[in-house]
Amino acid sequence: MITSLRGQSLLSLNEVSRDAILEVLNTAESFVEVNRRTIKKVPALKGRVVASLFFEESTRTRLSFETAAKRLSADVLSLAVASSSVKKGESLRDTIATIDALGIDAVVLRHRSSGAALQVSRYVPHVRVINAGDGQHQHPTQGLLDAFTIRQVLSQRRGTTGLESGGELFEGLRILIVGDIRHSRVARSDIAAYSTLGAEVRVCAPGTLLPDDVEQWPVTVATDFDESLEWADVVGLLRLQAERGSGAFVPSLDEFTFTHGLTVERFARMRPETLIMHPGPMNRGVEVDSRVVDAAAAIVEQQVANGVPIRMAVLYLSVAGSGESS
Ligand code: CP
Repeated sequence: MITSLRGQSLLSLNEVSRDAILEVLNTAESFVEVNRRTIKKVPALKGRVVASLFFEESTRTRLSFETAAKRLSADVLSLAVASSSVKKGESLRDTIATIDALGIDAVVLRHRSSGAALQVSRYVPHVRVINAGDGQHQHPTQGLLDAFTIRQVLSQRRGTTGLESGGELFEGLRILIVGDIRHSRVARSDIAAYSTLGAEVRVCAPGTLLPDDVEQWPVTVATDFDESLEWADVVGLLRLQAERGSGAFVPSLDEFTFTHGLTVERFARMRPETLIMHPGPMNRGVEVDSRVVDAAAAIVEQQVANGVPIRMAVLYLSVAGSGESS
């Protein structure tokens, strides 16, 4: 169990304690303030080197990690995988060894293979590894930024701050996660974060899109989507993970939208204060109607914006907390 992220790699939220999650959220609060300045830069990681290795597509995570590292004054080595020697058949192990030879302190890794981040942490045990999404396994910084966003929004509504709220506002909070749970690393990391913080988590999906071992997860499984929308304080929507073959698990996109899409009609029946979240990228008209997206846009954009301070906090704790550069 990781009780503090200082000097640690971040591979999964399953092994991260409540205190360590709150340490990241509280550290990110100070970086929100840095991001509001005209000069959005602090010297916290000056002289440190962060390698950004995205073997799978990304818009939000890659840009916010690289922005975060630069705002901490780290040097960023960004590998363009499509034009690298990976295309000539170089293995992950040899790619990491090559980058390590250049002198790095941390690797931010996205890979289509579940377990790739753990594998890299074994190849270069002296380097901090931050998992930016590995297959359907974990996307820990997404879980952290989603928890941070919930705390930020609900604290503001109560006229207090996230720091003052701590973790208490998660106690008994009702969070529903809907969609392709089976293939979603975001679902796995969100559930780990929310349940560790004390929230009550439900998942709702067509039976084929639930994981086989769902009864071992810290969630309840709902069959009635419409009732669950009334129950929830927070609704997290997930897209169908087509790149992981989810298309074969539903009869058609229309049928998925009919049974589990957040349509205008369903949205109209929801309590107005319910938070609607989406990690992106969205497939408008499938898991969520375009008009609902526009109504929820502020929170979804807040999730994206919070990616920078959360990733600054993770890099700062993980790299600066590890003492001298390796
Ligand atoms: N939420 C998320 O991981 O988005 P990207 O794939 O664009 O990074």
